[in-house]
Amino acid sequence: MVFLLQIRIFDNEQQVASALADHIASAVRQQPGIVLGLPTGRTPIATYAELRRLHAEQGLSFARAVTFNLDEFVGIDASHPGSFRYYMEQHFFGGVDVPPERIHFLNGMAKDLDTECIRYERDIAEAGGMDLQVLGIGGNGHIGFNEPADELIASTHRVTLHAGTRRDNAASFGGDPERVPREALSMGMATILKARMLILVATGAGKARCVERMIHGPLTTRLPASFLQMHRSAAVYLDRPAASLLAVE
Ligand code: GLP
Repeated sequence: MVFLLQIRIFDNEQQVASALADHIASAVRQQPGIVLGLPTGRTPIATYAELRRLHAEQGLSFARAVTFNLDEFVGIDASHPGSFRYYMEQHFFGGVDVPPERIHFLNGMAKDLDTECIRYERDIAEAGGMDLQVLGIGGNGHIGFNEPADELIASTHRVTLHAGTRRDNAASFGGDPERVPREALSMGMATILKARMLILVATGAGKARCVERMIHGPLTTRLPASFLQMHRSAAVYLDRPAASLLAVE
């Protein structure tokens, strides 16, 4: 079987994080002004830790890099521990040297959320688009907050979160899914797929089913990550449990 997606399978989560951090580090060294698209979630935490270590111990510098985060909840600000902005400060920006003016975020507190989405698309375009977009995957196959649906939306937009997604995000809201915002802002499918290179990372047996559908299944709006199959330069980094249902081992 021929795979357009490059699949890399590692023994464990730490090896996934090291390999992904090494890839990001060499991309940053080759192109210091790189435009990075960045994800949140539990999965990339170890990768961000490794990048902070490379910054502290090996002088890896992000001083000229530009970042755009994938998504943000509506109705909470950067001081809320559940916000993705807060997460990024804790796990990445607080330990590296990306200048604050080069960090881009969707503002879930904006008065006019539609205008905020247009502003974000314009900022991404003005930066020249993403060179490298790193992605996680939701248990239901979402990327960013592009949830499974009959139709997917191309550009940055406002989205109503699925109940399962709110459950999956409950940990940073005192474990209570009801406290997770009902809405979010997210880069759209085209915003993501226009990145020159994509790397999706998934770890743990809980992701095995959606990873299998993403790689072996048809393109379907019911599994937004399946659209990565169309990308010319996309890679998937997995640990063995996440890869356990694939026919490639
Ligand atoms: C959230 C984010 C996604 C992320 C997903 C998976 O829903 N919006 O970008 O990929 O969580 O999170 P985890 O890595 O915790 O499984």
